[in-house]
Amino acid sequence: KPSMLKKIGKYTLYSALGSVLAGTGYVSYKLYKEKNPSPQQPQSPIFDNGSPRKTLVILGSGWGSISLLKNLDTTLYNVVVVSPRNYFLFTPLLPSTPVGTIELKSIVEPVRSIARRAPGEVTYYEAEALDVDPVEKTVKIRSLSSKEEDAVLNLNYDYLVVGVGAQPTTFGIPGVFENASFLKEIPDAQEIRVKVMNNIEKAATLSPSDPERKRLLNFVVVGGGPTGVEFAAELQDYIDQDLSKWMPALSKELNVTLVEALPNILNMFDKSLIEYAEDLFRQEKIELKTNTMVKNVTPTTITAKCGDTTEDIPYGVLVWATGNAPREVSKSLMSRMETQNSRRGLLINDKLQLLGAEDSIWAIGDCTFYPGLFPTAQVAHQEGEYLASVLKKQYKIDQYKWHMLQNPNVAETNKYQTKVEKVQSNIKAFKYSHQGALAYIGSEKAIADLAVGESMYQSAGSFTFLFWKSAYLAMCLSFRNRLLVAMDWCKVSFFGRDSSV
Ligand code: FAD
Ligand code: NAI
Repeated sequence: KPSMLKKIGKYTLYSALGSVLAGTGYVSYKLYKEKNPSPQQPQSPIFDNGSPRKTLVILGSGWGSISLLKNLDTTLYNVVVVSPRNYFLFTPLLPSTPVGTIELKSIVEPVRSIARRAPGEVTYYEAEALDVDPVEKTVKIRSLSSKEEDAVLNLNYDYLVVGVGAQPTTFGIPGVFENASFLKEIPDAQEIRVKVMNNIEKAATLSPSDPERKRLLNFVVVGGGPTGVEFAAELQDYIDQDLSKWMPALSKELNVTLVEALPNILNMFDKSLIEYAEDLFRQEKIELKTNTMVKNVTPTTITAKCGDTTEDIPYGVLVWATGNAPREVSKSLMSRMETQNSRRGLLINDKLQLLGAEDSIWAIGDCTFYPGLFPTAQVAHQEGEYLASVLKKQYKIDQYKWHMLQNPNVAETNKYQTKVEKVQSNIKAFKYSHQGALAYIGSEKAIADLAVGESMYQSAGSFTFLFWKSAYLAMCLSFRNRLLVAMDWCKVSFFGRDSSV
């Protein structure tokens, strides 16, 4: 009936208007909250009941440490964060930044703004931890603003969380540090961008028959793990989707090569997804050199071994992504303890306590080595969440122990001892819940190995790319990051990537 249709139309209009209003209200509220943090409880040496407030020092501002900070009740401790990087970096979108798919500022969040939103005051030092003394319970830190000796400070701690991450490994292959770029931090992404854009412009000044032009336009990525694959995919996208419009002839001469020592790339993924990714790379004209181990690097050439043959590959830009190695501060901590005898990272127990300093040090994320826990953001994030709940329980234990000291009679001691034991038994081992793995493989396609209950499900293609985008949007640290990343994707689809340096 026409009257019925009219009614339906009216309700649809009202609900659409309602949704827009609710959406606008939600966005305004989120923006207001992010801009205007609530007042914080100040730090103090003692609590209102006279018990001492312990000092918790957190090293690092990455996935593990920031997840801890966001989930921790910071009113329970005097919290001190030490990190040379004054921001959190959303690493999953870092491979999109050198070619300008995502702006660098969109994936960082200042430590100060994260710390300011915590319920209790947090002290932040933009400094590097040089050494930890687990016996004296001190951390030696050096402020970044000054390289002088007097910029070194000793911090006392009651509890310490080591979340310093890892550094790129080169396996001691000669010439890598001097000639290659890594893709781990913001300055790395900036360096790669400058090298790529400069090489393109430099090559454009040379004649097409000049072999130097060919070398400059050969971009080599070493390491077929997710970092290398995602970056190679982004680079090829830039060439196919943007450079081909502005420099059509030259864009055809560009060559992206991915070198991997093992028979396949992306070895952490299901076999079907590996095949899908390798097929797509071939279609995209990314040259895949598997079973090829790089042995030496000079400023213009890499030497690689494939079976019995040795090949020289000239390159213009070399990006090195062959995994992680412990940082200096982790190595120095390991050298202080006999129990720390692994070269892969700090050894911890199933409660993330550092072996050899179980009563006062926890270690989380990429700086650790524990069988079954891989160096991923997912693991570090869950470890940070777990540790926040452990530290809440630890506070209770400390309070009961303090009460015991205040009332040293048998009845009170027994009462609080029972309470301590109850809380201690409540501190369960860390249990990692694997949600799956995602990777962007170029041409607006992604692969996903998803965990649903006990089973794993595989998905690949354009729909998976949309899922990849929404998953990463949801994982962004702040509403501001989410908005900026979404705007970057829109900007690229309207105007393409910016190729200025
Ligand atoms: P980090 O996040 O590296 O943080 C370490 C922190 O310690 C930094 O703030 C650093 O400045 C600080 N620090 C360093 N030295 C010192 C010192 N001496 N004293 C004090 N602080 C120090 N994982 C996923 O699960 N999914 C992904 O999609 C994904 N994508 C990635 C893409 C790239 C390009 C890279 C490089 C990694 C990716 N990862 C991904 C892995 C993930 O980023 C790491 O596993 C994660 O960052 C580990 O967290 P973390 O807190 O241990 O270390
Ligand atoms: P990786 O350790 O995952 O892969 C490094 C690759 O380099 C390996 O396949 C190795 O065989 C190869 N390699 C080592 N030496 C070589 C040589 N001399 N020549 C040629 N190839 C060589 O390292 P990556 O990609 O840096 O990742 C580090 C961590 O971050 C991993 O745990 C990874 O899972 C995680 N990560 C996860 C992402 C995701 O889930 N999308 C994205 C990026 C990183």
